[in-house]
Amino acid sequence: MAIFLDTGTLGEIERFHRMGVLRGVTTNPTILFKEGVSGGMKGLEARARHIAKLIAPYPLSVEVTTTEREAVLHQAREFASWGDNIVVKVTVHGPDGELENMEIIHELETRHDIRVNVTAMMSAQQCLLAAMAGASYVSIFGGRVNNMGYNACGEITRLRRVLDQFGLKARIIVGSTREVLNIIEWLEAGAHIVTAVPSLLEGMLVHPYTKETVRMFLADGAKLEAKLKA
Ligand code: E4P
Repeated sequence: MAIFLDTGTLGEIERFHRMGVLRGVTTNPTILFKEGVSGGMKGLEARARHIAKLIAPYPLSVEVTTTEREAVLHQAREFASWGDNIVVKVTVHGPDGELENMEIIHELETRHDIRVNVTAMMSAQQCLLAAMAGASYVSIFGGRVNNMGYNACGEITRLRRVLDQFGLKARIIVGSTREVLNIIEWLEAGAHIVTAVPSLLEGMLVHPYTKETVRMFLADGAKLEAKLKA
């Protein structure tokens, strides 16, 4: 069971990595764009190499920016060459349901020895097929599933059961995490990994009553110290 950080921000990755609680990092074009990564492919390469080196041997997922077959293959090989721990993220299908990505996923895993994280999935059924195609990771977007009106926990539990039943190697990543509670509930439901933005990890750790208790210990500790010195 593991937590991946869903960010491209170096400072946040360093901060949580130093605590020893990270087991990987995921990114996507939306996150990197919002975080101001610029300079085209060179800019992406520099950031990805930096993160990959920082968290090695834990995996870093980097998403391709196209659905055109040759370009996906080219980017996937390029990304994978940036570090042994780079996993290439590919959406399960194109914007209009085009299915070429599934062939590419299969090809990358079986012929090019590239680890693939199949992403943007909303159901156990999609994830099962991606796992059968050979994906190393299958990413289901739990928050978006919940927003569609059905509970992501049910999908995660069913998916984990069939992956185990058929001995499929894919690890389940649940992303699109909206609430602190999601992290533990999705791991409990059967996710191998949950991805979270830094603020949610901080929310997991910091508790108002713990703050109050620590303040009490510090105040009484100071009184005790004064008494011992007297
Ligand atoms: C997962 O790896 C994705 O980057 C991410 O969790 C998507 O979340 P969103 O629904 O907040 O865009």
